[in-house]
Amino acid sequence: MFILLLQTITLITLLFTYIFFFFRTLVILISMFSDVPFVPVSRKMTKEVVKVLDIKNEDSILEIGSGDGRFLLYASKRYPNTKFVGIEINSFLVLISNLKKRILRRNNLEFLKEDALNFDRYNKFNKIFLYMYDGFTKKLVNKYENVFEKNTILVSNIFGFGKVFESSHKVVEYPVKYINKKEKIYIWKK
Ligand SMILES: C[S@@+](CC[C@H](N)C(=O)[O-])C[C@H]1O[C@@H](n2cnc3c(N)ncnc32)[C@H](O)[C@@H]1O
Repeated sequence: MFILLLQTITLITLLFTYIFFFFRTLVILISMFSDVPFVPVSRKMTKEVVKVLDIKNEDSILEIGSGDGRFLLYASKRYPNTKFVGIEINSFLVLISNLKKRILRRNNLEFLKEDALNFDRYNKFNKIFLYMYDGFTKKLVNKYENVFEKNTILVSNIFGFGKVFESSHKVVEYPVKYINKKEKIYIWKK
């Protein structure tokens, strides 16, 4: 009887795991056809971005396009007294992020379904991380440059802010070495 119960529980757990991963893969595949698809940040870059952000308790940190939440879940664990918010356009990724947040009990973290190009609370954050393509980042900084508070720091993984913006603003490049490749983090302080 006990063995039968155990087998049933294992079977149900496996079934739910398969269904979850099936839908997750489906959503990621669908997102490949959008302007900025879901491509998760690597562990190495996550650690480097966290270093660059130089997080303090009093900071308010926003991630634009937070994907499945991995960057903020990592950062919010290391800085439990800092407030973190992720905005993401893909509802399923927001759902996954919130699920992980609940399981890991991160009370200093929020995931919201928002379009970054229509978000109206940028002035509430002093440090912003994004990993979007440069066309998108260019559009974003052009639209919201005047909304960001003075001294707000924008940190972009791999993609810069566009040539025009970079020719008239002080954007610092922070090189990151992998075993066999080099990436960059772009930093702009208003
Ligand atoms: C390259 S992925 C990066 C994901 C995550 N930041 C990470 O580093 O793991 C870009 C993310 O931005 C999201 N995205 C695309 N357009 C967006 C928009 N207009 N507003 C908010 N999120 C958007 C995508 O759904 C995707 O999850």
